[in-house]
Amino acid sequence: MKRTHHCNELRPSDAGRTVTLTGWVHSRRDLGGVLFIDLRDREGRTQTVFDPSDLDTAVFEAAAHLHAESVIEVSGVVRVRPDGTRNAKIASGDVEVLAKSLTILNHARILPFQVDDPEVANKVNEELRLQFRYLDLRRPEMMRNLRLRSKVAIATRSYMDEQGFLEVETPTLFKSTPEGAREFLVPNRRDPGTFYALPQSPQQFKQILMVSGVERYFQLARCYRDEDLRADRQPEFTQVDIEMSFIDREDIYALIEGLLKKVWKTALNVDIPTPFKRISFDEALNRWGIDKPDTRFGMELVDFSEEFKGSKFGVFGNAVANGGVVKAINAKGLAGATQGQIETMTDYAKSFGAKGLAFIKVEKNAAGVVEWKSPIVKFFNDAEKAALTAKLGIEEGDLILFAADQWLNACEILGKIRLYCAEVLKGQGKLTIDPTRFDFMWVVEFPLLGFDREMNRWYSSHHPFTAPVAEDIPLLKTDPKKVRGQHYDIVVNGVELGGGSIRIHQPDVQKTIFEELLQIPPDETRSRFGYMLDAFQYGAPPHGGIALGFDRLCAILCGTTSIRDVIAFPKTAKGVCLMTESPSQVTPRQLRDLHIEVKAAVKPPVAPTAS
Ligand code: AMO
Ligand code: AMP
Repeated sequence: MKRTHHCNELRPSDAGRTVTLTGWVHSRRDLGGVLFIDLRDREGRTQTVFDPSDLDTAVFEAAAHLHAESVIEVSGVVRVRPDGTRNAKIASGDVEVLAKSLTILNHARILPFQVDDPEVANKVNEELRLQFRYLDLRRPEMMRNLRLRSKVAIATRSYMDEQGFLEVETPTLFKSTPEGAREFLVPNRRDPGTFYALPQSPQQFKQILMVSGVERYFQLARCYRDEDLRADRQPEFTQVDIEMSFIDREDIYALIEGLLKKVWKTALNVDIPTPFKRISFDEALNRWGIDKPDTRFGMELVDFSEEFKGSKFGVFGNAVANGGVVKAINAKGLAGATQGQIETMTDYAKSFGAKGLAFIKVEKNAAGVVEWKSPIVKFFNDAEKAALTAKLGIEEGDLILFAADQWLNACEILGKIRLYCAEVLKGQGKLTIDPTRFDFMWVVEFPLLGFDREMNRWYSSHHPFTAPVAEDIPLLKTDPKKVRGQHYDIVVNGVELGGGSIRIHQPDVQKTIFEELLQIPPDETRSRFGYMLDAFQYGAPPHGGIALGFDRLCAILCGTTSIRDVIAFPKTAKGVCLMTESPSQVTPRQLRDLHIEVKAAVKPPVAPTAS
């Protein structure tokens, strides 16, 4: 018999109907000889009842010996559950199906981990979950994530279509263009020593599509970056990649605000207010010490350079004298930090290049008087102390932390410490963040270029195709660090959701950036980007675009911090797929065909054993 209903469909109005359900044995309980099997499919669960007084013994016995996650088909009659036995947690919890027949479609072995209880499943080691990903994905939370991702992809496509965009697929066997992250290379069998590269993004193709006159392009594009992996980074990931012609920054802001509005409504039924606020890179660094600020809590950075100019405390006075700054944050409620915790924070700050992490604990002493406990307060004069009290709102229970350094370093160090303190405070229950709050913002006015001291050359903050702000173009030759780029990032709750820019469409400006500022020799510029510079000479429209990290977008919507939870088959932090055990060694013959010789011994990745 064929399935008549899915497992989330039956209601009291179906009582008396004969139905057939199929699915997985979610759980089984034996209550005084009567067997209750919760049957689960993609949509939900329904309780089935196997009553030995009413059933063929063989059918009952078969049901009694089923392991969890076996696949079965049950036919029976729907009945309303007696009062007191209804399950309000599931939509079909008012009814059950009194089984008449059972077909075992497939037996399941004993599982490596339990999938029916979220409490238990969430504690399972992630490596084991990834090794048995097919079981992990059966968990309703994971199925919900996959479903939400699919919905968001479809909503995105439909919005982009409404806005007149064409979805164009671009190659994933691309050319090596070593910029940004390290690339994955694919050897070319036909011409020894030549390689394709997997694209880090479709950046160059989408710009070429603008030259082709597509005007509005988008793609849910797979991108590949061989970089250090973290919770929010995978070696292959998906972007909502967008490019438009004849537009300015405002058009991109409006387009993306409309898209996110639609996505939030579709996925969460939440109306997000637009337009989003806009914050300059300088302001983001000054106030939160990071270019992707989480503004859902305070603890903002406060500048004390003026107050500590010429301070007796040499560390601060000298920092300002050397053109640097003194900044501080007030971590309210952390005065009780132990010496060990302060040392951990100091080491953490030092790992980002801090020279130290001066602090003041505001606590009662043995006599019950509130005092500033700190090895450095003895150097402060009254005016300095008064400024600290006033600008930081100092009171009992506070922990004040300082960074004295060049502006960018000082901001970035305190920015990291701010986030660290927030985590500690969350752990202690002293800081709660509303999980339904979404603080969207555009971060704008990034510097176009940064300076790499080691290589003694400029590098692009975003990528070399980003246009400078028009009025800053003359500074390219005189003072490159002052040049602002027409670059924007979209940030939500401290996550960089996406970034993009208005592009350079004049071949001469592009050539200046490549050759004079990035110091790429002309012949290399030619071999790497020649086709782009050529294309720009045949009528390139002004254009710009953006890419949103689709995995990050889905993770935020699903309320998880790890993009692995919204990717069906993700890789571990070491870049390994534990289920298929890739990457793996290949045969000598394959290597020979590819003209590749492996010199170092290659160890296969180690997969954990199931326990
Ligand atoms: P960018 O490099 O900023 O821009 O990437 C855009 C967005 O992609 C996401 N992202 C990632 N997500 C998961 N894993 C990764 N390893 C990873 N790396 C990036 C982030 C990021 O904001 N071509 C330009 C866009 C443009 O200028 O139009 C680009 O790729 O959410
Ligand atoms: P020192 O004078 O080196 O003994 O440092 C005194 C205190 O200031 C210690 O708590 C250091 O961690 C801290 N400190 C040193 N350098 C800096 C700096 N550049 N920024 C902030 N604090 C610092």
